[in-house]
Amino acid sequence: MSIRVKIMIILLVIGVITSASITGYNYMEAQNRVFEDAYVKAELISSFAMASREYTKKTMRPLATQLAGEESFHPELMAGFYVVRSIADIFAENQKGYTFKQATLDPILPENKSDAQETEIINYFNANRKTKIQKGIMNKNGQEFFYVARPVVNKVGCNRCHGRREDAPKEQLAKYPNSGGYNWRVGDVVATMITYVPLDATLARMNTTAMKTISAGLASVALLMLVTWYVMSKLVVKPLVHLTELAGDMSRGRGLDQEISGARNDEIGALCDSFNRMRKSVVNLIKIVKQKGD
Ligand code: HEC
Repeated sequence: MSIRVKIMIILLVIGVITSASITGYNYMEAQNRVFEDAYVKAELISSFAMASREYTKKTMRPLATQLAGEESFHPELMAGFYVVRSIADIFAENQKGYTFKQATLDPILPENKSDAQETEIINYFNANRKTKIQKGIMNKNGQEFFYVARPVVNKVGCNRCHGRREDAPKEQLAKYPNSGGYNWRVGDVVATMITYVPLDATLARMNTTAMKTISAGLASVALLMLVTWYVMSKLVVKPLVHLTELAGDMSRGRGLDQEISGARNDEIGALCDSFNRMRKSVVNLIKIVKQKGD
């Protein structure tokens, strides 16, 4: 195998490894940034939802109760979970893909029912009561999401409406005729407040960037190989081939009188000079041998 080919192989291997490592490292860094960013967004959305719930509890509910009477039931004004869900629905219309859900094992409102993945999270919260937050990546119907989930614990006061069905406010029963959302046990994690941030567009952008980085890396390797091939040919291979031809000729007794000029201030030049000295020595030796023979 020729020197040039060997060097090309070395360059190719180093180039491919370097390009792949740089791309991989950049990708990991970008991924971390995307997840951090998604986490911040999810936290903002969920803080806003919590704030809406607090406002309902502290301001709207007392006022609504005062205006409409103790026995009245207007979840639109009184139930924090109702208010949060309604705000979240409007929010999701404007921010496609972002979802805030009160995923519940056994909900009053069927659309709050937890799916298989959310049920798993709620079960995990129930089994690990110290865990107050869960976050990660989730694939839903082929789409990637970052999620942040928090447990919702059923308290004594909640059972005014979520305890025995027959004890719940009449208007609630009239408005929600389903049988779900009752007989919740006090102290159980019954639901999770979960926020989804869509990742698909960002991941697609990351993949494009990774493809561009690796393409640029490989193009640079190709350019480097091309330049090296040319320089190697000009500076090393051609002079060596020429010297080999001269040596071949000399071994057959031809071209001994031809001056070989290094004319270059490098290793090849030095080799030419040595070669030239050797040629002269050979010529002298031949002369001496001839004189002795005469
Ligand atoms: C005044 C009655 C009332 C009280 C008190 C109440 N809820 Fe609810 N809750 C409701 C109603 C009605 C809904 C359905 C809201 C909707 O339509 O989105 C609901 C919905 C929920 C949901 C969403 C899942 C579902 O069932 O649709 C969760 C979770 C929830 N409540 C938890 C609680 C917790 C925890 C407490 C106590 C801190 C509590 N609720 C107190 C009436 C109540």
